[in-house]
Amino acid sequence: MKREIKISPSILAGDFSCLVKEIKKIEKAGVDFFHIDVMDGVFVPNISIGFPVIETMKKITSVPLDVHLMILDPDKYIDRTAEIIKEGIISFHIESVKHPHRVLTQIKSYNGIKGGVSLNPGTSPHTVEDLLDIMDVLLIMTVNPGFYGQKFIKEMLPKIERAREMIEKRNAKTLIEVDGGVNEENIEDIIKAGADIVVAGAYIFKNENPLKAIRNIRKKSGLYGK
Ligand code: DX5
Ligand code: ZN
Repeated sequence: MKREIKISPSILAGDFSCLVKEIKKIEKAGVDFFHIDVMDGVFVPNISIGFPVIETMKKITSVPLDVHLMILDPDKYIDRTAEIIKEGIISFHIESVKHPHRVLTQIKSYNGIKGGVSLNPGTSPHTVEDLLDIMDVLLIMTVNPGFYGQKFIKEMLPKIERAREMIEKRNAKTLIEVDGGVNEENIEDIIKAGADIVVAGAYIFKNENPLKAIRNIRKKSGLYGK
């Protein structure tokens, strides 16, 4: 069955000195989400975006926001994030919490917001199998989280396949999102392995022609037109 692939450009790789211009340019390509990477310098070795930028993004664009929390204690920040974004996705890392079912339930208490659980490269999809019935998105990291522009870890392809099998076997509606090092060379393999949503940072924002980069992703993922 042909899946409808969604694209979520990661603004971490964008130029923050002209965020409005960057976003407006990318919007023209008709993307499905904007991916926002939130880092705390504890769960990952970097700090990045917080509420002021999420609020600014919400003002700039009507494209739903896809917030990727790479922080400890994500439950403390979910309510405020949900109140700002109103629609889209909020994902947290399974490795960052003791009670993932509770945290997912907290996200899903907001109508219109999808609840996502993310896996570091070293974490097996089976750790989240029992959450599938309430998990809207399974965010599979294909780099170690912390930075944009890293190399795709190709050993993650069989893991995406295993996650797809697990979801299908259970008849769950969970979408697979793939994040890290996505580009025109690996996109076909990623889609073939089972992705529904693809994140791309450097490949889009550091490209001399970002709109062409998005068109390439679409073309190679074999759906939307040209
Ligand atoms: C990594 C982030 C990714 C990253 C993607 O910690 O979660 O979303 O920004 O950027 P690229 O596509 O450049 O790897
Ligand atoms: Zn991310």
